Amino acid sequence: MKTVTLSTLQALKQAGEPFSCLTAYDASFARAAGEAGIEVLLVGDSLGMVLQGHVSTLPVTVEDICYHTRCAARGKVASLLMVDLPFMSNSSTERLLQDAGQLMRAGAEMVKVEGEAWMAEGIGELTRRGVPVCAHLGLTPQSVYQLGGYKVQGREADRAAQILEDARTLAAAGASIILLECVPASLGRAVSEALDVPVIGIGAGSDTDGQILVMHDILGITPGRPPRFVKNFMAEADDIQGAFRRYHEDVKARRFPSETHCF
Ligand code: KIV
Repeated sequence: MKTVTLSTLQALKQAGEPFSCLTAYDASFARAAGEAGIEVLLVGDSLGMVLQGHVSTLPVTVEDICYHTRCAARGKVASLLMVDLPFMSNSSTERLLQDAGQLMRAGAEMVKVEGEAWMAEGIGELTRRGVPVCAHLGLTPQSVYQLGGYKVQGREADRAAQILEDARTLAAAGASIILLECVPASLGRAVSEALDVPVIGIGAGSDTDGQILVMHDILGITPGRPPRFVKNFMAEADDIQGAFRRYHEDVKARRFPSETHCF
């Protein structure tokens, strides 16, 4: 696979070809996912839950994420390496720039930040300094206590319109990618159609430009009942490499997500 850049993802969007994304937190899995063809790897703050055993992403520090970024960066083959800014990185522009600087020095090729239209200024400051940004909208897990749980967002018409408007504002501010989590499929489609930048979905329907899942979920090793948007690809594969390949191929062929994974 050729090295994946933002231009690659932009070209895939224009060609109407979906791309696959997966979380990865170390060198071995970053290599395996890249060799399976997965275009984007995310060192997500979900590591707080799947690696560290916390009940939310809030305890994860920028140092934790830098450590896993360095590991993943050493193993990755051709995938684009996106890295999460942790809880409270967005508490001031100064902190945002400092934390993003640390992540980029650790090996990130773009950063992801949670927040709504009020993040426009911070996103503008990052992009002006050469840091590509993915803006995470919809269900933003760092706000889980304010949202009252991991719930679908944008079911009501006014909230859906707000998410669409926020996506437009953040793309205009410089975000190169929008990530939508847990929103109705109709909203995933509307945002993807409205924007020129690629839109990645997780539980956002089958019409977003890219799909992302948490690696432990697709390997079926996350304890408890999986969310509706998750599919265990290990159930249909002989090994981990096979599960990654199957996920990638199903996304590319728009076999995943199916209606049963959508809201
Ligand atoms: O941290 C993470 O893994 C994420 C995904 C859920 C998109 O943000």
